[in-house]
This record gives sequence, C-alpha cells and structure tokens, in this order.
Amino acid sequence: MKYKTLTQYLVEQQREHKAVSADVRLLIETVSRACKAISHAVSKGALGGVLGSLGTENVQGEVQKKLDVLSNEILLEANEWGGNLAAMASEEMQTIHRIPTHYPKGQNLLLFDPLDGSSNIDVNVSIGTIFSVLQAPVEAAGREIAEEDFLQPGTRQVAAGYAIYGPQTMLVLTVGAGVMGFTLDREMGSWLLTHEDIRLPEQTAEFAINMSNMRHWEAPVRRYIDECLQGETGPLGKNYNMRWIASMVADVHRILTRGGIFMYPRDARASGRKGKLRLMYEANPMSFLVEQAGGLAIDGANRILDIQPDALHQRIGVILGSREEVERLQRYHQEA
Ligand code: AHG
Ligand code: MN
Ligand code: MN
Ligand code: MN
Repeated sequence: MKYKTLTQYLVEQQREHKAVSADVRLLIETVSRACKAISHAVSKGALGGVLGSLGTENVQGEVQKKLDVLSNEILLEANEWGGNLAAMASEEMQTIHRIPTHYPKGQNLLLFDPLDGSSNIDVNVSIGTIFSVLQAPVEAAGREIAEEDFLQPGTRQVAAGYAIYGPQTMLVLTVGAGVMGFTLDREMGSWLLTHEDIRLPEQTAEFAINMSNMRHWEAPVRRYIDECLQGETGPLGKNYNMRWIASMVADVHRILTRGGIFMYPRDARASGRKGKLRLMYEANPMSFLVEQAGGLAIDGANRILDIQPDALHQRIGVILGSREEVERLQRYHQEA
C-alpha cells in the first residue's frame, strides 16, 4: 500500500487547506527529524549508554534521566538553525531558550516535553516526546522574546503532537484539521500516514488513573472511580477495565486509538494541589489532540485549553478522553 508521507500531508494542508503556514510546516518537519534521532537513541538502550539517571535535578525537582537531557539537546540543536523559531521552552530547562542572534529566526514558539514517561526508560516501557507550537505575540515584534510571551491559553496553539517510542515509533499530529498518525518507516526514514483522521470513541468502559493516590483525591474523582468499580450493577451499568502505563504519551495514545478516560487529577497533597502534569507542554498539546479527535479535556470543572497560564512550568489537573465520561466527571465537579 502506498502511504502519504508527513511532508506530502503538510504540503497539502499548507496549499489546499491553508491549515498550516510554510514556516510551521518546516518547524514540524524539523521536530519530526529530531524525534527520529531520539527514537534511534531510545532503541539503543544500554548499548547506547542512554539508560539511568544523571546526578542533576530539573526545575521540577525531578532527578534527570540521561535520556531527558539527551532528548532535550537533540531538540535544541535541531531547531536552533531551523530558521522558523523565535524561542523554545522545555520541561528540562528553567526558562526559555532564545534562538542565537546569528541564526535565522521566525515567529513560532516551540514548547516540548522532550522525554515523557521517564520512569519507564530503564524498564523498557513505551515513552515519548510531546510538543506544542504557539506564535509570538504581535507586541513582541522588534524586541527580545520573553517568558511571558509563552503564557498563552491552549486555544492559541497552531500545532501539537507527540512521538511515541513503542513497538512502532509513531508521530501523532494535529494542525487544527483533525488528528493524523504517522508510522516511522525505519528503512526509508519516512513518517508514513497510516492512521488518517483518528476519532476518539465517545463512550468507554476503561479508565486510566494511578490508584495509589486514591486517599488524596477530591470527592468528584473518588465518586466516579467508586461508581466505575461497582461494575454493571452500579449506577454506570458497565464493568470497567483499568490501565495505567505512567507514560502520558502511551496512555493518551491508547485512548485516542480505542477510547478511555485518562485522569491525573489535582489532589490534597501539597505537591498535588495543582496537579502533577504541566499545562504548557503536556496538558495543552494533549488536550488539543484529544479535542481535535472528538474528545474532551478538563482540569475538573474547566476546559483545559481555555486556561490562561500564569507560569511556564505551571501544573494542572488533567481529565481527558471519551466525551461522555469526561462530561460526567465535569458534572460531578460542578455539583461538588
Ligand atoms: P515526565 O516523565 O515527562 O516527567 O512525565 C511523567 C508524567 C506522565 O508521563 C505520566 O502520566 C505521569 O507522570 C505518571 O505519574 P506517576 O508516576 O505518579 O503515576
Ligand atoms: Mn520529568
Ligand atoms: Mn511528561
Ligand atoms: Mn519529561
């Protein structure tokens, strides 16, 4: 079967549908090349000396894995000379990374979680890279880009996607014209459009949550999971299954593929009061993808994409997936 390549898809979206500009197309192609290099490093594992931790901590207070830092460096190097970026931001960097003055620059802002699911690296479970593309605000023209210029709600994203390094390496992408899945053909080095217009099933009987945090959850989450666990004789009338991979990319990919509800809610712990996941480069890009596929993404009562960020590494509660289940959770939060 002859598949369309990522470039062919993006050129179509640029020329025919005006869904993506030339410099966003080039940016996505640059990011996709970086993800190929990360996939190559990931697949070497111990043979490539990429397993294990460094002695360093990132701005999140997490011990950095070698692959966290290596993936970050690969994305920085690939995008510095790409010519269509004003600046970048990453989970692994304290503040923004401006494009050096002697490089060509553009109007796009790139944010990324270079290696998502780091706790799974050393146990050989699927991990990924998440990215989000914003545009520099008009008022930033003529001056240096500042961190504040990144603090835009998720509705302003012009593109978002993730690479998942699993049994296959895939790139799942939206430019606002639906969600497309590309499988990496390693022989040719091409991303081939194998999953056109991914639609997230509206109904599900599968939830994804880290159950060990149950005693810390707020009432609406506790109520919903209790009801799921009552099975078909309970108020939801279904027997639910549970999955938790602890790589957001892998959990979201499963949900985009077969439906489900993903929950990393805020909780009563000091560390969990705002949630664990980061708004700008985890929740927002994943919420854009989920909504483009027909699903819903909330922080409890509010739509994630509407949230006005106040800090680059701001954390947020995340509940996303099959529309019917997420709407139920939203009602429970509004009733609380
Ligand atoms: P990261 O590895 O980029 O820091 O993200 C890890 C996140 C997310 O991928 C996953 O859903 C969640 O952490 C898992 O958290 P627990 O280990 O607490 O279950
Ligand atoms: Mn991390
Ligand atoms: Mn992550
Ligand atoms: Mn990460």
